Amino acid sequence: MPVITFEGKEYHCEEGETVLESLTRHGVLIPSSCQSGVCQTCITKAVKGTPPVESQQGLKDTLVDQNYFLACICKPEEDMELSVADVAEQVVSSTIVEKTLLNESVIRIRLKTEQPLDYIAGQFINVMHPETDVTRSYSLASLPREDFLELHIKRVPDGRVSGYFHDDAKLGDALSFMGPAGDCFYTDRDLDQPLLLVGVGTGLAPLYGILRDALARGHRGEIHVFHASLAVQGLYYMDELYALADKNEQVHYIPCVLHGEAPRDGEQGDLQQILKKSKPDLKGWRVYVCGDPAIVNALKQTCFMSGANMTDIYSDPFVFDVTA
Ligand SMILES: Cc1cc2nc3c(=O)[nH]c(=O)nc-3n(C[C@H](O)[C@H](O)[C@H](O)COP(=O)(O)OP(=O)(O)OC[C@H]3O[C@@H](n4cnc5c(N)ncnc54)[C@H](O)[C@@H]3O)c2cc1C
Ligand code: FES
Repeated sequence: MPVITFEGKEYHCEEGETVLESLTRHGVLIPSSCQSGVCQTCITKAVKGTPPVESQQGLKDTLVDQNYFLACICKPEEDMELSVADVAEQVVSSTIVEKTLLNESVIRIRLKTEQPLDYIAGQFINVMHPETDVTRSYSLASLPREDFLELHIKRVPDGRVSGYFHDDAKLGDALSFMGPAGDCFYTDRDLDQPLLLVGVGTGLAPLYGILRDALARGHRGEIHVFHASLAVQGLYYMDELYALADKNEQVHYIPCVLHGEAPRDGEQGDLQQILKKSKPDLKGWRVYVCGDPAIVNALKQTCFMSGANMTDIYSDPFVFDVTA
């Protein structure tokens, strides 16, 4: 059984246990959120021992070279000595400058930072609750050239961080976050490649950034944006997306609802079936899928079955800790 040394104490890791699970079992708390290797909140450094390659997925090469890894997916193969990444060094301070209701369950929060944040539209940041430091990921809907960071936050029943934003957050509140992180963003490697952007609920947040980034970089290929919700009340930014489609002939906006009448230019029914019917051949397309993890995984599969190359499918599943 590998031994983990952390802050001068030794902890035994059970067979198949992750570093995060072992530390938690011993009452040692380090920052974490998604528990599945997505959000990078649990980033940790091995000062002795080598982390398994799988535990470094999605980390920048510079971090990998310094032996950083993700504690929630690290099943150690040898003894390791750890130091939690210097959190203070990575934290960015910001101020809430706007809070707007986008529909009955989604708010838009805009943040200002002292120095411009170096990010790519579609990446996410890990926001810390101002009192408890509980950390959650939120995607950036803004563009780096805009002088604010924009988040779209859905209210989750009994949600600690989403509840803070909906009920307690006020203009002028100070907010700390880490990041940016994530690799679901636009690159201009092929300006003529058709793009399919599919989001459910606040899955629109990264896609809104990606869409506008692609246009700003001169993307010429078709861009089809499917935004889905249970009913029309769950959609948002409809005027903005219709306007982008009117202004850019390559942009097609398809709002989708499961219940009720289809909105203008939209579809009614199950999103997976809608995609299978309207995009039966995705050979050569680049696909971006964001939002609820179960739906994202199902849609990725659908797009792959319709011919999209796996390496051309980018996704941001909004994974959450089911044990929270
Ligand atoms: C990469 C990434 C990007 C994300 N981007 C966004 C974004 O742009 N906008 C956004 O609104 N969210 C986004 N999320 C989800 C977000 O990070 C939080 O998980 C969400 O806001 C809930 O946090 P909370 O603290 O409010 O709820 P918690 O206090 O963590 O959870 C309260 C209860 O609700 C359950 N729960 C948590 N989330 C959900 C859910 N989605 N559906 C059903 N039950 C749930 C928990 O298991 C728990 O029982 C993203 C997640 C990831 C990993
Ligand atoms: S990556 Fe480890 S908690 Fe999210």
